[in-house]
Amino acid sequence: MTDDCLPNGTQIAGHVVSGMLGQGGFGITYKTISREARTLAALKEYFPADDAVRGPGLAVSPKKGRRDRFDMGYKAFLKEAQTLHMLTERMKRANSGRAQGLVQIIGAFEKHGTVYCLMEFIDGQSLDNHLAYFFQRRPHVPPDAVLELARAMLEALAMVHREEVLHRDVKPSNIMIRRDGQPVLIDFGAARPMGRTSELASMYSRRYAALEQFPAQRTGHSNALGDGPWTDIFALSVVLYELVSQSLPTNAKGRWDALRKAGQDPYVPVRDNILRNRIIASYPGPLLDAIDIGCKLFAEDRPRSVEEMSRHFEGLIEPIDPAPGPSRETVSWSRTPEHSSPKPSPATEKRPSPKHRSQSPHQGLQFILALIFALAAGGVLYGYLTQ
Ligand SMILES: Nc1ncnc2c1ncn2[C@@H]1O[C@H](COP(=O)(O)OP(=O)(O)O)[C@@H](O)[C@H]1O
Ligand SMILES: [Mg+2]
Repeated sequence: MTDDCLPNGTQIAGHVVSGMLGQGGFGITYKTISREARTLAALKEYFPADDAVRGPGLAVSPKKGRRDRFDMGYKAFLKEAQTLHMLTERMKRANSGRAQGLVQIIGAFEKHGTVYCLMEFIDGQSLDNHLAYFFQRRPHVPPDAVLELARAMLEALAMVHREEVLHRDVKPSNIMIRRDGQPVLIDFGAARPMGRTSELASMYSRRYAALEQFPAQRTGHSNALGDGPWTDIFALSVVLYELVSQSLPTNAKGRWDALRKAGQDPYVPVRDNILRNRIIASYPGPLLDAIDIGCKLFAEDRPRSVEEMSRHFEGLIEPIDPAPGPSRETVSWSRTPEHSSPKPSPATEKRPSPKHRSQSPHQGLQFILALIFALAAGGVLYGYLTQ
């Protein structure tokens, strides 16, 4: 635990902190146990490391000169936690099991000068943690396991997109696999401060980030569409790319830079990457096609919604119902992108045409492998691993 963390034994909303689960740039996640029922939960505290300090009485306050950034993230964290909580409640009322792919939010509240989001505790492992173990046992991720992950994540994203919430950070460490094998999306993009912030520097290395998530002033691309469902679709497609081909494509900014400089996008179609990495597996054609479509560099070339994306799987997974959510009509995608794009100039608008493909570095192998090991803890996917 760092000094910033709440000490073990801290009591919050009937829960007692019993350890830290993780600390990211914008929050600290704790494991808690409820005083009465002795049930476990996870508690995420809004604590933007660059902008906040812990003071007396465990109070969190903005660092000098960081009030605006702190407040902006605070509001975003609270709003999105409340939205996700509402979604959880609605799913419960509808008695639907279809929220299983989303972490369930127990409540959001303000204390210590900051915001807390109390969640169900997921008994499992994050996807990135155990792939290496998996690949010691199996040469590739079974197609059905990849499809199960795709299905669960598309359904989860569909639910939050209908509430006008974007995840913005879909990646293996933000996907947990329950002991019964069910994938669950965690760590929503709440509290990512927008604008010209130093935190954006960490985004440049994001291997799963779409081009529109990189600040336009750094890429010179106008990002006319801004962020939207297509942004999460890109990240999920990169996760799937990695699962089936065991290495990542060149990151979006690298692709854009290469396209501008050399007129070629170094993206290697997933089929070619599977061959290159000598993976002997028969993944269905529509799955591979869907991955390539979702990995398109430009937002406008990708499916606009997860419903549309699901149809690219051509029946391999059940298409997402385009209209199940009561608030679907309210979705406008008019929210401000994470970073404001400068006015498009002729230079930034131009899309160089690809000449040919070039090699993409083999990277991130260890990550891929975890999927099934984690899934192997039990449940449907366990069966695939032990065949
Ligand atoms: N609901 C949860 N149940 C169990 N573990 C969790 C839960 N949420 C997060 N974790 C654990 O905490 C880690 C960090 O949480 P996360 O929400 O991804 O925050 P960040 O990436 O900002 O640190 C996760 O990788 C996971 O191991
Ligand atoms: Mg995370």
